[in-house]
Amino acid sequence: MKNFAKKDELQQYLSGLKADGAVITFVPTMGALHQGHLSLIQQARQLGNIVVCSIFVNPTQFNDPKDLEKYPRPIQDDIKKLEQVNCDVLFNPDVTEMYAGNEKWHLDIGELEGLLEGKFRPGHYQGVTQVVYKLFNIVKPDIALFGQKDYQQVLVIQKMIDLLQLPVKLEMCPIMREPDGLAMSSRNIHLTADDRQRALVLSKALNYVKDHFSPEQVDQLQQEAIAIINNESGVNLAYFEIADGNNLHPANKNTKNFVALVAATVGKTRLIDNMLLKIDE
Ligand code: PAF
Repeated sequence: MKNFAKKDELQQYLSGLKADGAVITFVPTMGALHQGHLSLIQQARQLGNIVVCSIFVNPTQFNDPKDLEKYPRPIQDDIKKLEQVNCDVLFNPDVTEMYAGNEKWHLDIGELEGLLEGKFRPGHYQGVTQVVYKLFNIVKPDIALFGQKDYQQVLVIQKMIDLLQLPVKLEMCPIMREPDGLAMSSRNIHLTADDRQRALVLSKALNYVKDHFSPEQVDQLQQEAIAIINNESGVNLAYFEIADGNNLHPANKNTKNFVALVAATVGKTRLIDNMLLKIDE
């Protein structure tokens, strides 16, 4: 695996491959890689010739400095994992390589960035679009892969691609779960054994909604899911919402595409999860 810290060197390397007709696939990450990330790399391998992964803990998407500070950074382990799944290129820049100074600009992608996660983490998706825009400019991927785990992030990035007419195709890949249902996340390592057990209530509530789903019962199911979560001690619910999967507005009678999304703090760790809901034909 080639490892670049400098954007110019990466660009030079990739432009040669592009000129030879390579299809570049790209998996942006913040490291602390788990099977969810590795499945994105494996999917990227199916879709193109050269797989690029970036590891960059982006400071502008953290609104809590403590959260940024304690974000895990096991870079040597990450490199081993990427090599095991045959990633071709790692881009692992410093903050100074990505940001000229205290940059104040952001992209305005409209209301989507202020809903759900955006309400609880103001500015978070502005930081995400800022860094992903920069990364797309450096890597110039044909296809970029993102996990469904942050469903809102997928919609936000797709909106940015559409508004700016960026020449990249976005692929959303399914959430990877532990055998007991917990969605894989870099933050799971912060959970104590008890918290980890409590955190299972999130996928339990999502599965409950999925198993009982009918569009006529959205409000009731939402209330039942909230009750399931509130019943678990040590779990502090931020939101549980059954939303329109296209725009994340609360689902209504015109909604065709439903998604249930949840965020909660378990112990000291904030977790998100979601599930796509199918209507039985
Ligand atoms: O999902 C993430 O890990 C980050 O938000 C991303 C897309 C790498 C941007 O920093």
